[in-house]
Amino acid sequence: MPQATKPQATKPQVSKPQAKSPKPSKDSVLSCRNVVKSYREGPQTVSVLNGVDFDLKASEQVAIVGASGSGKSTLLNVLGGLDRPDEGSVWVMGQAFSELGENARGMARNRSMGFVYQFHHLLPEFSAVENVAMPLLIAGVSKKESQAKAETLLLEVGLSERCDHKPAELSGGERQRVAIARALANDPGCVLMDEPTGNLDVKTSESIRLLMRRLSETIATSFVVVTHDEHLASTMDSIYELRDGCLHKGLHSGSNH
Ligand SMILES: Nc1ncnc2c1ncn2[C@@H]1O[C@H](COP(=O)(O)OP(=O)(O)O)[C@@H](O)[C@H]1O
Ligand SMILES: [Mg+2]
Repeated sequence: MPQATKPQATKPQVSKPQAKSPKPSKDSVLSCRNVVKSYREGPQTVSVLNGVDFDLKASEQVAIVGASGSGKSTLLNVLGGLDRPDEGSVWVMGQAFSELGENARGMARNRSMGFVYQFHHLLPEFSAVENVAMPLLIAGVSKKESQAKAETLLLEVGLSERCDHKPAELSGGERQRVAIARALANDPGCVLMDEPTGNLDVKTSESIRLLMRRLSETIATSFVVVTHDEHLASTMDSIYELRDGCLHKGLHSGSNH
């Protein structure tokens, strides 16, 4: 006769997130621990990030959502080494930003990371191919090689016919494609995108989503995408919400993004 199983005493659920190891694991391309950041506004201090932990694995694609003003751009800027945290550390490809001097920091950003913003930030005086070649030239690649790689990338984002056009001669969606190609120029370990479809109409946003999906299937780069675009967020491997200065995995029920 089978023995009656004793009902298990249910332990109270502990909602506190598990403490992360102080250093990121080796397979993380981008990590941070206990990132704290606040801004002074006159006599007041606005606390924006209250101890953010984050790990991005190779080839992983992550969306970060959150209310306007919740600190998404602040977090992305800290992760990208554009801004320093008040407390905590950021590691890119195993290298702590805090251990690098200004030049080495710039070099790490140029070689290991790509950036895409809501507004493309292309250089207006330069053609599409010159804009895409710029990070390669900065990294010391020859002019000929940079040009060839830039042309290949523009072909990949569907703009081979627009290589010689300047940003003003391109549509909003085309400019964003150039910005994505530029972000990929140095085969970075990760690309950080801040509202990449935020300034585009519905149809153009859809084409950028499809492009990102295709790129994510063909290249090994990891993405962190800050977005209000639910469709874009849902195509990523995981979604985090920035709320009360901390990152929470998944979406808070009732959140409106
Ligand atoms: N340079 C700054 N100086 C002062 N306050 C800032 C600065 N940048 C951002 N903030 C404030 O920090 C908060 C988070 O901003 P931000 O990171 O841009 O949010 P999000 O990108 O989620 O909309 C906001 O309250 C914003 O006003
Ligand atoms: Mg923002």
